[in-house]
Amino acid sequence: MPGWWALLAAPALLALALAVLSLPWRPPMPLSLAQELEQRQRDLRSLTQEAFQTLHPSDAHAERLGCQELSRARTLGLVGFGITKLVLRAALPSRGGGGGGGELVVALKALHWAGSDVAACLRRYGHRGGCHRLATYKLLKEEVLLQSLDHPGIVKLLGQCSDSNISGPEMKVVTMLELGTPLEMIQLLQTPWEERFKICLDLVELLYYLANSPLGSIGLLDFQPRQFVMVNGTLKATDLDDVTTTELSCQEDQDCILEFPTKRFALQCTTQGKCEGINEKRNLFNAYRYFFTYLLPHTAPLTLQPILKDILNATGDLRYGANETLRAFQKVLHLYKSGLYLQKKTSHLKEYIALKQFHSADAEDYKCWPSYSHLRCMLSVHNAEEAAAICSSHPQCQHFTITPQRTWTGRPLALFHSNLSDLIPGGHMVVYVKQSAASRKSISWGA
Ligand SMILES: Nc1ncnc2c1ncn2[C@@H]1O[C@H](COP(=O)(O)OP(=O)(O)O)[C@@H](O)[C@H]1O
Ligand SMILES: *[C@@H]1O[C@H](CO)[C@@H](O)[C@H](O)[C@H]1NC(C)=O
Ligand SMILES: *[C@@H]1O[C@H](CO)[C@@H](O)[C@H](O)[C@H]1NC(C)=O
Ligand SMILES: *[C@@H]1O[C@H](CO)[C@@H](O)[C@H](O)[C@H]1NC(C)=O
Ligand SMILES: *[C@@H]1O[C@H](CO)[C@@H](O)[C@H](O)[C@H]1NC(C)=O
Ligand SMILES: *[C@@H]1O[C@H](CO)[C@@H](O)[C@H](O)[C@H]1NC(C)=O
Ligand SMILES: [Mg+2]
Repeated sequence: MPGWWALLAAPALLALALAVLSLPWRPPMPLSLAQELEQRQRDLRSLTQEAFQTLHPSDAHAERLGCQELSRARTLGLVGFGITKLVLRAALPSRGGGGGGGELVVALKALHWAGSDVAACLRRYGHRGGCHRLATYKLLKEEVLLQSLDHPGIVKLLGQCSDSNISGPEMKVVTMLELGTPLEMIQLLQTPWEERFKICLDLVELLYYLANSPLGSIGLLDFQPRQFVMVNGTLKATDLDDVTTTELSCQEDQDCILEFPTKRFALQCTTQGKCEGINEKRNLFNAYRYFFTYLLPHTAPLTLQPILKDILNATGDLRYGANETLRAFQKVLHLYKSGLYLQKKTSHLKEYIALKQFHSADAEDYKCWPSYSHLRCMLSVHNAEEAAAICSSHPQCQHFTITPQRTWTGRPLALFHSNLSDLIPGGHMVVYVKQSAASRKSISWGA
């Protein structure tokens, strides 16, 4: 049934939400809870209508997963939870695979019934049905947003299943998403700069998209590293229930104060009565304080450090918008990929002898930081010349090889070795041996 989802889902969700809300509640619901539910319902309705108009034509042909697939899911474990939602890893039998075919491993998102969001509502209103419904609106909102936003920096919605038995006490909604791994900031601090730069660049590309999205400028109100996951090496936002697609309304500039624990910014109220660019600015400052300050500067190439410092300063003071920030990041990427950042000083490569058709034993060797390997010193380099400069700066290094492995920027990984006895004839690699090391060892190198 191609197209059923795109054509039906948005109105169907809405109809479901409306039908559910019109049901009488037992026990009767407190008025303030009913008002809160109505507010969420209105928000969801306007978002759904807006999203429906911007649906991508390609969505109409996308095959989505549904309740049928979900009923055959095999749960593999808990991946995470927040205040509102619970995320499980699950294997679904892949479609078209016939009988014993492959499996598709996905993330299942559902309401966290024991989470603090529902708990706070229960303390306040003491009404289970109403509180569950209130939280379910968040899940529905996230679903509508995931469905209408299309960017590599946003986790992909693979399908959903709503238990539409509205005579039951609870409307159960499960979304099926591509599976990622939660961000580990501590671990990230120990990865090479190139990998940390990638995460920041992914984030900036997302912020650029959000600032110019088909739904208008989108602000992430609950912006923290735990709202993101890594999928196949790319950073993706996964928690989209707490976002706004409209700029804050105002009557005067006083209404447009953007406040953070360490800083406040006074924005302007436009003649249309909106705080100009408040969503984009909030996102950028959060990216600065949660990501850039930790991930961007440390162990960056020396010549890139002033540019990175400028980016930090400009985003930390909100002098750059998303457009300028993206441009600045692209400039850094260009300088890095092209090798223009390298200081053209003395050549170190001439201190090395290139041995063709040799390779190094796969043995453990000296370590360096931050290495791409746990067992050895493995770093990304622009070329053999840069690798030679690195080897010369390491007292242990006696020879190095440029491996065929590439990083995401396309740079090769170089392996640095201390043990000359590891050299083995054969293979297609070139081993660069420090001349001083070669003469000390007085090894016969064949030709
Ligand atoms: N697609 C996913 N793959 C892997 N883990 C995920 C995925 N989505 C969310 N998570 C994990 O589950 C946690 C809770 O999900 P989230 O949507 O942030 O719920 P909440 O709204 O309660 O904060 C996240 O912090 C993240 O660690
Ligand atoms: C719907 O829910 C009610 C109450 O929980 C239950 O009695 C009924 O069997 C359900 N119907 C279906 C089709 O699941
Ligand atoms: C994972 O990322 C790599 C490198 O960017 C890409 O070539 C590959 O197609 C991606 N795989 C999937 C399943 O997206
Ligand atoms: C940016 O630089 C100016 C001038 O050096 C300084 O006063 C300001 O505090 C810096 N801002 C940030 C966020 O680093
Ligand atoms: C940013 O770039 C986009 C796309 O080029 C453009 O539509 C938008 O107006 C720019 N925004 C600003 C604030 O310059
Ligand atoms: C050097 O490598 C050789 C052969 O792989 C091994 O026997 C020797 O123990 C290594 N020496 C050191 C100091 O690692
Ligand atoms: Mg979250």
